[in-house]
Amino acid sequence: MAQAGYKTEVQQGERFAFGENWSRFLSALNDERVAKAEDSLRSSLHVTTLEGMSLLDIGSGSGLFSLAAYRLGAAVRSFDYDADSVGCTQELYRRYEANPDRWTISQGSALDAAFLASLGEFDIVYSWGVLHHTGDMWKGLDLASKRVRENGQLLISIYNDQGWRSKYWTSVKRAYNRRPWSRPLLIVFHAPSQLFGRYIFRALTGRLKMERGMSLYHDMIDWLGGYPFEVATPADLKSFFSVRGFDLELERTVGSKQGCNEFVFRRTSQTNRVENP
Ligand SMILES: C[S@@+](CC[C@H](N)C(=O)[O-])C[C@H]1O[C@@H](n2cnc3c(N)ncnc32)[C@H](O)[C@@H]1O
Repeated sequence: MAQAGYKTEVQQGERFAFGENWSRFLSALNDERVAKAEDSLRSSLHVTTLEGMSLLDIGSGSGLFSLAAYRLGAAVRSFDYDADSVGCTQELYRRYEANPDRWTISQGSALDAAFLASLGEFDIVYSWGVLHHTGDMWKGLDLASKRVRENGQLLISIYNDQGWRSKYWTSVKRAYNRRPWSRPLLIVFHAPSQLFGRYIFRALTGRLKMERGMSLYHDMIDWLGGYPFEVATPADLKSFFSVRGFDLELERTVGSKQGCNEFVFRRTSQTNRVENP
C-alpha cells in the first residue's frame, strides 16, 4: 500500500525520490562518518549511551542515524516511506551485522496514523529533516509526538521559515520534481551558492567535514529536490509542543538563514495531549 502510493507520487512529480540519492551516499559512507553521526546524537540528546533505551527513527533515509543509535546501544525501530531509503537502511543493517532483536526496519508513512499507533511508544522519537517532506507536516508532528512515552524525548528538525525565500525554494523544488528536464539547469544555476559557496565558506572556517556526516554534493541535491516542502518558525513549533505537554530541552536554530532548526522536547505530561488537532 505505502509502496504503491509512494511510487505514484514520485511518478507524478509530487515527491522527491530521496532513496536514489541515499544509495549513492552509502557508497561513500565510512566509519568516520558513522562516528560523527554517533557524536551528533550524543550531543543533541545530551547522553553518553543509549543502552537500554528504545528509539523510533521516522524517515530513516540512508539509515545512518538508525545505525548510530543502534551502535550507541538503543533498540531501534526504523521506517521510511521510500522503498529505496528502506533498502539503504537495510544495507547498513547488513553491513554492520546488526542484531535482529535490537533493530527492525520496514516501509511505512509518518502520516499513517494506524501504522504509527501499531509501533507503540518509545523512549526517543527521532525524526531529522523528515516531517516537512511528508506533505502534511503538522499532522506528522502530532503523530510523532504520540509515539513518545512519558518522560521520553522527541528530537526533530524542521526547515526554517524564511518568508519569501522559503516560497522561492518551494517553486524551485516543485520544478525539480515536476519538470525533470529542468534539473541540470537548476543544479548549474544554484551550485555557486549551494555547493561552491558553501565549500569555500566551510574551508575558510575549518568545517569541511560535515557535522551530520553527509557530503556537500548530496546535501545540495537533497535541498534542490526535497519536495514536498514545508517550513515552520521556532515559535510555532514550541507552542505546538507546549500544548501537547512537552518541555523544550534543546533548541539549535539557524536564525534567519536557510536550513533546519533542531529541537529536543521532553514529554512531561500525559494530560495535556491533544488528541484531535
Ligand atoms: C532529508 S531525508 C532525512 C533522512 C534521515 N532522517 C537523516 O537524518 O539523514 C528525508 C527522509 O524522509 C522520508 N520521508 C518523506 N516522507 C515520508 C513519510 N511520509 N513517511 C516516512 N518517511 C518519509 C524520505 O523518504 C527521506 O528518506
